[in-house]
Amino acid sequence: MDFGKIKSVALEAAQQGAEVLMGKMGRLSEINKKGAIDLVTDADTASEKAIIATIQAAFPEHVILAEESGLSDGSSVFRWIIDPLDGTTNFAHSLGLFAVSIACARGDDIICGVVFNPVSGELFSAVKDEGAQLNGQTIRVSDTLEVGESLLVTGFPYNVGEILEQIMTRLSRCLAASQGVRRLGSAALDLCYLACGRFEGFWEQNLKPWDTAAGLLIAREAGARVTDFDNREFRIDMSQLLATNGKIHHQMLDLISLEDGR
Ligand code: IPD
Ligand code: CA
Ligand code: CA
Repeated sequence: MDFGKIKSVALEAAQQGAEVLMGKMGRLSEINKKGAIDLVTDADTASEKAIIATIQAAFPEHVILAEESGLSDGSSVFRWIIDPLDGTTNFAHSLGLFAVSIACARGDDIICGVVFNPVSGELFSAVKDEGAQLNGQTIRVSDTLEVGESLLVTGFPYNVGEILEQIMTRLSRCLAASQGVRRLGSAALDLCYLACGRFEGFWEQNLKPWDTAAGLLIAREAGARVTDFDNREFRIDMSQLLATNGKIHHQMLDLISLEDGR
């Protein structure tokens, strides 16, 4: 299989999704709730349709897992994992921190990932074993050695109210130990910003495959270490994620591990 074609279809699909999003930014006709604070807009669904149409035109037999429409039928070893709008809450508030996230996996292996923020014009991409790029330039994680010299980022899941105590314990420890902790509101961008050295560490719990699939490959190809909170190699069916530049991984594991093992 030609990974070059997969990458060019992923890029084209991201472009199509992004055009839909830009056309709807600031003029949403529908904002619905999947949960108390979990929004879905007409932009999410329209972007997803455009992305899927582009992929299916090129690879009609491939399986698709997309956030809003779920898993398609089929038995192909190739599976596309799509978040048509990562950062919906930001988007709904006209805050330009959001992205289209598209990954393609062969079996359990993610072979291509694209994350595109059309507001900043930043396009992050990676093909397995070929490195990661930002707008065509190779990117690497930072080489900072200490958490005390690090800028960290985290995210809060939609059930934050139910697990507030553990969220706040991890947050306050990391805040006290680092140069700062940011919360951008797009897990895909969090991973990509780590990949290009803006952040040294990112942790979040209760993530879904479409939040992490593309960013995971981009981060790993840029040299990141990505595990769960128990230092097991991260897979996209895991919900806890710790990504670092590799150098501060053990310091971060100590900071986010809770006495009761949660
Ligand atoms: C969300 C974003 C956010 C993260 C949430 C995700 P959505 O995705 O990635 O940063 O904190 O856990 O669900 O809903 O905007 O696609
Ligand atoms: Ca998401
Ligand atoms: Ca989404």
